[in-house]
Amino acid sequence: MGLSEYIVMRELNHPDINNFARYQQLGGWAAYANALKTQTPADIVEVVKAAGLRGRGGAGFPTGVKWGFLPRHVFPRYLLCNCDESEPGTFNNHQIIDRNPHQMIEGVALSAYAIEANTAYIYMRGEFAGAALTLERAIAEAYQAGFLGKNILGTGYDLDMYVHRGAGAYICGEETALMESLEGKIGQPRLKPPFPAVAGLYGKPTIINNVETLANVPLIVERGVEWYRSYGTEKSPGTKCFSLSGHVNRPGNYELPFGVPLRELIESPEYGGGMRGGRPVKIIIPGGASAPWLTAKHLDTHLDYEGVAAAGSMLGSGAVIVLNDTVKAPHLAYKMDEFFKHESCGKCTPCREGNHWLVKVLHRIAVDGHAHPEDIPTLHGIYNQMAGNCFCLLGESAVMPIKSALQLFPEEFEAVIAASGHSIEEMHGKAGTPLKRTRGRFG
Ligand SMILES: Cc1cc2nc3c(=O)[nH]c(=O)nc-3n(C[C@H](O)[C@H](O)[C@H](O)COP(=O)(O)O)c2cc1C
Repeated sequence: MGLSEYIVMRELNHPDINNFARYQQLGGWAAYANALKTQTPADIVEVVKAAGLRGRGGAGFPTGVKWGFLPRHVFPRYLLCNCDESEPGTFNNHQIIDRNPHQMIEGVALSAYAIEANTAYIYMRGEFAGAALTLERAIAEAYQAGFLGKNILGTGYDLDMYVHRGAGAYICGEETALMESLEGKIGQPRLKPPFPAVAGLYGKPTIINNVETLANVPLIVERGVEWYRSYGTEKSPGTKCFSLSGHVNRPGNYELPFGVPLRELIESPEYGGGMRGGRPVKIIIPGGASAPWLTAKHLDTHLDYEGVAAAGSMLGSGAVIVLNDTVKAPHLAYKMDEFFKHESCGKCTPCREGNHWLVKVLHRIAVDGHAHPEDIPTLHGIYNQMAGNCFCLLGESAVMPIKSALQLFPEEFEAVIAASGHSIEEMHGKAGTPLKRTRGRFG
């Protein structure tokens, strides 16, 4: 059964919620106005902490705990809303902004108040030109109504909010690359520590949260911890807006309580509506391209951070990609690693070179249909040299598709080797050579 009342996709209950007056009529901005007048910033941090809100940008880190890392008495501080949304398969942030922009803006405002920031930036993926205009219009309405600007509602609190569009680089969703980009530099990640909460934008304490994370905040503050925790599980409270795509009958964004079984999301007529043409499920990627693959045997996995981790993957951004038996594992790994290769910022060697070589070998296997007996050990060698050695999580993520493909479907690689006129024994005979070869190739 779908939710009777949505938290972030409230346009399903109120299709005209994108209208400023209607948003206010539905109680919008009341939580913020009330907080400014009657609650301290620390009160808001405590409520968000007690609600157990977890970051929706990928790691699921508890939001209130992150806010608590800010050093005391160091100002100015910044709040950054991450709307880069470039993880393949993820498309819910865009929908939230398009259809319910005021709630997200109120969430940014409330969160800025909670962390005592007077400036908030919404960093948008470059391609989101329309959504950026929607936000700018909505922010202008908030200024006009006196919810943003100087001495807001006579409380002495000042807050300015800006929309900044990137230039369309996946790496700029990574929080430190995002800050570099916002400062006008090349979008490449920074070394951590220091973490952004200590030294972030312009070297000042900074909190970065995802769009969906922040869109939860107004209702948590308005309705309280118990109400919020009535959704989801003990460790993953609330709801998640899952972006469902692939070979399902009804791809789309579905907001469901955390903990819903994967099978229900895929098969329920209200959500995925089953597999197109009734073909079997072969591969499920439960958290965007960066997540390890699952298979049909994982259909009873519960979609919360703990359930997906127990199945051997990660919930990540909640982008659930479901593929049928027409998809060949080497080709899927090739397409995904081609994405990571394209998006590698080039700062570190394992990611820049590793992705280059993964794609080169995978192209030969998956596109040309020709494989050398040493290709499988070579692929294992390349990703093993990347894993744990990349500067940021982009390179670490790029390991997931090829590692999953080789672990789950080795026979599909072996079949290409056999079709290329080589025997599997020959391949095993080459098993000792990959590191030497790889080192040679890496120079
Ligand atoms: C390569 C890469 C891309 C990322 N892209 C996004 C993104 O588009 N949106 C996002 O919210 N987080 C993204 N993240 C995660 C952010 O670094 C950060 O953890 C997140 O914005 C924190 O917000 P949260 O605490 O609300 O989850 C990305 C991380 C990496 C490594």
